[in-house]
Amino acid sequence: MYTEKVMDHFQHPRNVGEIENASGVGTVGNAKCGDIMRIYLDIDENHIIRDVKFKTFGCGAAIATSSMATELVKGKNIQEAMKVTNKAVMEALDGLPPVKVHCSLLAEEAIHAALWDYAEKNGIKIEGLEKPKSDIHEGEEEEEEEY
Ligand code: FES
Repeated sequence: MYTEKVMDHFQHPRNVGEIENASGVGTVGNAKCGDIMRIYLDIDENHIIRDVKFKTFGCGAAIATSSMATELVKGKNIQEAMKVTNKAVMEALDGLPPVKVHCSLLAEEAIHAALWDYAEKNGIKIEGLEKPKSDIHEGEEEEEEEY
């Protein structure tokens, strides 16, 4: 059901931990399953993401996608980091089972939330970045999902 890459990142997640005095911190939850993810970004004066760490209280797919997402944003500048969508993360993991696709949204939203925090602290605007949700289902239409 899971690809080898997903299993690898689940069993050996990269960049787990916290960053003290992080440039930006983002926390996002999924009220439906109760999973939570927090991303810490250390960004230098040239807007390059020097370091990134994450903590996820969540399912295997949430851990694997968080791990891959941190690998993808590390060393990038903040504009490039904006391109690390959940789709990009899933592609890098060679796919996720359809019922687990929503888990990958946690990583994307948490990165955006951390970038938002960074932008607010520094009084800058990041192109294309909208105010993040704290719950990935916030504002979603009330519709039954087919799980
Ligand atoms: Fe909650 Fe995967 S089941 S993030």
